[in-house]
Amino acid sequence: MDLSAGIERAAEAFQRTRKLVTFSGAGMSAESGIPTFRDPGGIWDQFDPEEVGTGPGLLDTLSRTPEKIRAFADQTISVFLQARPNPGHLALGTLEQMGILKFIITQNVDNLHQEAGNKKVIEIHGNLFRQRCLACGAKKSFGREEFLTKFKTALGELARVDLSSIMEILPKCHCGSPMRPDVVMFGEAVQGLHESFEEAGDCEVMLVLGTSGVVYPAAALPQRAKEAGATVIEINPGESAYFGVADIRLHGKTGEILPRIVEKIRNA
Ligand code: OAD
Ligand code: ZN
Repeated sequence: MDLSAGIERAAEAFQRTRKLVTFSGAGMSAESGIPTFRDPGGIWDQFDPEEVGTGPGLLDTLSRTPEKIRAFADQTISVFLQARPNPGHLALGTLEQMGILKFIITQNVDNLHQEAGNKKVIEIHGNLFRQRCLACGAKKSFGREEFLTKFKTALGELARVDLSSIMEILPKCHCGSPMRPDVVMFGEAVQGLHESFEEAGDCEVMLVLGTSGVVYPAAALPQRAKEAGATVIEINPGESAYFGVADIRLHGKTGEILPRIVEKIRNA
């Protein structure tokens, strides 16, 4: 099926439902300037997930080669500070307003779905701009700029990032204990898993956006939707694990294809 025919079919499927659920990954934010993890030149090409992607790995790297953590933090801060919702995010905001999109389940921690106006967002891997208390579990959200500029200033003020100083630059909870970014690292429990599987099992159309589909348990959501009878539509310029799962595959960028689908629905 060529791309325009696929877009046509997707628009028709969207118009028939009020139960569209999306499942997004890093590709969704690529056009906002945030590199993906597994594409060439992506985050896991530049940094070793064993060294920066797990809690114990991160602490170990911090004690042995703190410059690696500093480089990782610097890069993360600069790309996240500049990132804004792209036309793909904005199209999903419109689909929610139209009453078509019921829920976004995202693996992204960048807050861009909310900034595009979506209210119903499950962030299965957490949110970088929210902090969680290491002792009492209380959570606190910050604005993008507020969080990143504070973090950057703190990093810059430290002569060296090491285990003791990282505790000092972490913000403090009302209970007095340090708070950490509320993101899920490898080996940690994902967030909102039960609700995500309920929504996937209850949707009529599952839209899979810019994810390689290799990190479980989140990666099983499209299969869950398909088993429950949903039509699965994927938008991705490359290949993913959903070959054989997706009923309609649209090869291209979410920032280009999603606005075209919304346009079709508007003109229908
Ligand atoms: P990946 O980097 O694994 O996959 C990104 C996908 O986006 C690839 O399939 C690309 O082809 C696709 N892509 C690239 N540009 C795109 C664009 N403009 N439009 C649409 N698609 C595009 O990222 P994720 O699947 O999100 O986990 O990775 C899953 C998890 O692995 C992440 O949540 C993170 C990571 O380790 C944790 O941090 C726990
Ligand atoms: Zn606390």
